[in-house]
Amino acid sequence: MPNVLILGGSGYLGTAIAQALLRSGGYAVWGTARSAAKAAQLRTNEVSPVETVHLADPQTLAQTIDAHHIDAVIDASSAYEQAAGVLGAVILAAKARADALAKDKAVGPKLAFIYTSGSWVHGSPSRRVSDLTPPGTSLAPGKPATAVTWRPAHEQAILAARDVLDVAILRPAAIYGRGSWVWGTWWGPLLAAAQSGSRDAIQIPADKGARTGVVHVDDLAAAYLGALDRIHGQLGSWPVFDVGAENLSIVDLLEAAKAALGVEAELAYGGTHGNAFLEALSLVANSDFSRAKLVLAWVPKRVDFVPNTAVYVDAWRATEEMKPKA
Ligand SMILES: NC(=O)c1ccc[n+]([C@@H]2O[C@H](COP(=O)([O-])OP(=O)(O)OC[C@H]3O[C@@H](n4cnc5c(N)ncnc54)[C@H](OP(=O)(O)O)[C@@H]3O)[C@@H](O)[C@H]2O)c1
Repeated sequence: MPNVLILGGSGYLGTAIAQALLRSGGYAVWGTARSAAKAAQLRTNEVSPVETVHLADPQTLAQTIDAHHIDAVIDASSAYEQAAGVLGAVILAAKARADALAKDKAVGPKLAFIYTSGSWVHGSPSRRVSDLTPPGTSLAPGKPATAVTWRPAHEQAILAARDVLDVAILRPAAIYGRGSWVWGTWWGPLLAAAQSGSRDAIQIPADKGARTGVVHVDDLAAAYLGALDRIHGQLGSWPVFDVGAENLSIVDLLEAAKAALGVEAELAYGGTHGNAFLEALSLVANSDFSRAKLVLAWVPKRVDFVPNTAVYVDAWRATEEMKPKA
């Protein structure tokens, strides 16, 4: 059974990936944790915690990969400043393994590495765009969002490491379901209005023309399983996948959330105030997600976000209410 280490294993996405891998029955799963509480959370989910890894220190990560006989590493962390160090550590571990085999005049499977990028690298493209167009290049019809200008170069560095690694890059659209933390930016002001009963216009920090790709967290986790199952040679020459179920306008999304929360006040779209995160949320997505279906045999099962918004808003709200108060 392949051993998989998930960096950010206790995070929103990392938790869902771990559950999908374990549910498949095909993988044993380790996950990084930065505190005893997060380690316990992993153990409750049948994930073996690795507490000693500092992603800023490539040596300890490479040693961890070796110590637990890890066959595949999935970076589902938000350790953006450590991204290059993580890749360096994975390459280090892969080379050490290849060198050990070479001494025995043998070859073996490559260490596998799946990196989590995101759909923001496409920016607001002037035409429909798929994962076959490399972002951040002269061929791309949009510019990466300011928050992720570094990411296309990092994707290229990962693809350049294919001499020692089997890799895949998954680019999720905005993820929803359960904690849905990214949606709090838009749903938060609606919930505040619902709680106060105010009829004043609700300020939304976004552009009214925004359109965003969306994917349910469980569907996304299934795409990771599809990529991992195929990573040793079945992903073809371009193992990069945009993963989303549908592209939806902010107006449709927020009118549905208003109805779910029983809010009647008008929405005032106030723009993104020069904030890089808000700007990224307000991109005008034009993504084609078909290759994930073609190559990974991926079938998203949650495709009606707007009609089902009440369930997702309630799950987000309950998650927020359960968080310890600062
Ligand atoms: N959420 C979305 O809608 C979305 C959409 C597209 C792409 N993505 C990408 O998906 C990835 C995961 O996002 P998420 O939504 O799952 O975020 P999340 O819930 O905040 O999880 C991030 C995980 O990374 C860990 N982490 C952060 N900094 C770290 C560091 N310096 N060293 C070790 N671990 C560190 C966190 O540990 P702690 O729990 O200890 O903080 C947590 O386990 C990110 O790369 C993000 O860009 C997310």
